[in-house]
Amino acid sequence: MLSALLLSWYDEHRRVLPFRGTKDPYRVWVSEIMLQQTRTETVGAYYTRFLERFPDVFALADAPEEDVLKCWEGLGYYSRARNLHKTAKEVAETYQGQFPADLELLRALPGVGDYTAAAVASIAFGLPAPAMDGNLTRVLSRVHGVREDVDIPAVKRHLAELAREDMPGARCGDFNQALMDLGATVCVPGTPDCEACPFRPLCSAYREGDAETLPVKAAAKPPKDVSMAVALITCRGRVWMNQRKETLLKNLWVYHLTEGSDSRADAEKALKPLGIRAAYINELGKARHIFTHRVWHMTLLHYAAESTDCREGRFVTLNEMNALPIPTAMRAAKENAVQLLTPLITPVDEATLPAAAAAYAESWQESHAAHCTRDFLQKHSSSYMEEKLREHLRQGRCVYSIAQCGAAAGALVLDKAKNEIISLYIRPAHQGLGLGKAAVRFAVDALDRARPMHVTVLCGNERAISLYASFGFTEIAETRVLDAERDLAEEDRIRKAGG
Ligand code: ADE
Repeated sequence: MLSALLLSWYDEHRRVLPFRGTKDPYRVWVSEIMLQQTRTETVGAYYTRFLERFPDVFALADAPEEDVLKCWEGLGYYSRARNLHKTAKEVAETYQGQFPADLELLRALPGVGDYTAAAVASIAFGLPAPAMDGNLTRVLSRVHGVREDVDIPAVKRHLAELAREDMPGARCGDFNQALMDLGATVCVPGTPDCEACPFRPLCSAYREGDAETLPVKAAAKPPKDVSMAVALITCRGRVWMNQRKETLLKNLWVYHLTEGSDSRADAEKALKPLGIRAAYINELGKARHIFTHRVWHMTLLHYAAESTDCREGRFVTLNEMNALPIPTAMRAAKENAVQLLTPLITPVDEATLPAAAAAYAESWQESHAAHCTRDFLQKHSSSYMEEKLREHLRQGRCVYSIAQCGAAAGALVLDKAKNEIISLYIRPAHQGLGLGKAAVRFAVDALDRARPMHVTVLCGNERAISLYASFGFTEIAETRVLDAERDLAEEDRIRKAGG
């Protein structure tokens, strides 16, 4: 009776969900693991992407765990992803890739509890196992008038027994999914839509008028507040990250966390054993992340390290960071890290000019070391370059500071009248991080694309030559610059934009 009412309601009102319409145990299992603690609307996109990346149990079993975690990034409860991976290996090895059509054997797989075993057994194999999730518990406690705490094991068992008795002889998977849909759309928490419910004629709670008070649950313990300092330790365009060993967020990558304290002193004490010497820069803000049992209250701090040497963890570039699995709890910290690592190109002012000039001098000296006399190199000091930059400004050129991690990383000079990149220098410590590329993109945008653009590059500087070539610059001439003072064997190539 109950199941007949339910299944005819389901045939008309079932939700269209991306993971429906398959009995493939692998697919059913992946979707049910995702659905354990995540809303159906959120799961859809993750499910599709996950199956594209890992189309069968062997593909998942063979993947590195880091790839599985990356694909799971943002879904939370990462132990699900680690267990998913373990189960895939077990099914591939022990069961030759075939999930067992047996409730007990399914239940024995890592990360598979009573609910998931029953969902897979019923949907994929048609076995009569009630999948007792929050929806089934609510619907059935109302229909059958179970008015005791549903978290008490004996009450739980009683509800599951009632559900087993309600199960039809066939369509057991549909029976479970129909109860889930009914619970999600009609028999919702709080005030249900009893007018739309197929169970109205036989529902105890409807008769008694107490649906809103069911299911009975003891008040949940409030989550524990944990304060935490999150240190973003940057050095030369990189930020320090470490793979967590703790159970919560295990194997995910995080910044430097001091759990239990958000004080600078405690954060700094914790850096010592890692062999990191870093200067405090500033506080970047606060963030909060709510887990089931705890709330992290985070204070984000920025430190600049002297070197990228460290005993644990590693300093990663922006691209490397983006490839790592990073938990949502780190979202605010990651946004700050992205900002710190992203090159900032701004017109110089009195405040930024000296640092830009120092970066300019350092990189000029490095790139000219093989071409000039020592005297001539040393002449190009920070103060000399500062005067040069001022001279550019006096001549109406645009001078930009290139900064990263809050520190000057280079300088860019443009002559918009001549449509020319006059100078582009990146400090050696910041090279290889995409700053040159960002600066050329900036320059090409700032100059006039309708006219030929020019830039002069030292002969032999193949990195710069191929960088400009990637933006369409082609070689138009190669000249020998005769400059007695420089004592140069310097040959400049003059290039202009192609097209
Ligand atoms: N929640 C968990 N599993 C589900 C399923 N198969 N259909 C709808 N909601 C669900």
